[in-house]
Amino acid sequence: MRISVLFSLLLVIAFNANALEGDAKAGQAKAAVCVGCHGADGNSMVPMWPKLAGQHTEYLGRQISLIKAGERNVPEMTGFVANLSDQDIADLAAWFNSNAIQPGSADENLVVLGGRIYRSGDADAGVAACIACHGPTGAGNPVSGYPALAGQHATYTAKALKTFRSGHGFAKDDTGMIMPGVAKQLSDDAIAAVASYIQGLHAAE
Ligand code: HEC
Ligand code: HEC
Repeated sequence: MRISVLFSLLLVIAFNANALEGDAKAGQAKAAVCVGCHGADGNSMVPMWPKLAGQHTEYLGRQISLIKAGERNVPEMTGFVANLSDQDIADLAAWFNSNAIQPGSADENLVVLGGRIYRSGDADAGVAACIACHGPTGAGNPVSGYPALAGQHATYTAKALKTFRSGHGFAKDDTGMIMPGVAKQLSDDAIAAVASYIQGLHAAE
């Protein structure tokens, strides 16, 4: 009896995960309007605008939907996402996910402090270790909704961390309110250092 209940639960989860299958090729065409800011393959050249290349499809889809709904406030994007259907969003997410992120480099003066915060957090200040959720190489975990961070522009990451520190998540749900809790006690110096470390983070070849 128990086994069959568990099995049907698994089926429901698997079904939801595949509810809308994105088509990367279709997404590439639909991404024409995103290129000016996020780059042709999702490797934005402007440090204020996040790289999307290689990011998990689940996370990309979630953020596009949150931005479309106005829950995550990105005024620059309003006119570009208002008319996207759920299928468009799934296709765009599949396209940006299918590209490789171009890693950056870390400032050598910040890398020691940044690496310490990333790997160990700051127990005295009550800052959780980033590695616990975003992983040793910054690859994140798509199943848990933890985005990949490795190679992201430090300018963008620092801005996001300051938004989180002010108490605002990307959403008011459980997933969205994790980072405001993590970032509450980060100092400006800690933010600059960990953002620089993340920009230089990449998996060993
Ligand atoms: C005019 C510039 C601009 C255009 C065009 C644009 N974006 Fe954005 N996008 C931004 C900015 C700026 C942010 C980050 C805002 C912030 O600081 O939170 C962002 C954030 C995002 C994020 C969240 C990334 C993350 O790591 O959390 C996604 C996903 C995204 N954009 C997808 C798209 C897609 C898909 C399109 C095209 C349909 C698009 N954007 C068009 C400027 C733009
Ligand atoms: C308990 C798990 C957890 C820990 C610990 C954690 N994060 Fe996160 N982080 C998340 C989740 C979940 C999100 C996505 C939130 C959403 O989708 O609304 C996120 C998002 C982010 C983002 C936004 C990424 C983007 O592309 O916009 C940054 C930057 C970030 N985290 C940095 C950090 C740093 C730096 C640390 C360590 C000081 C850290 N995180 C610790 C779970 C965690």
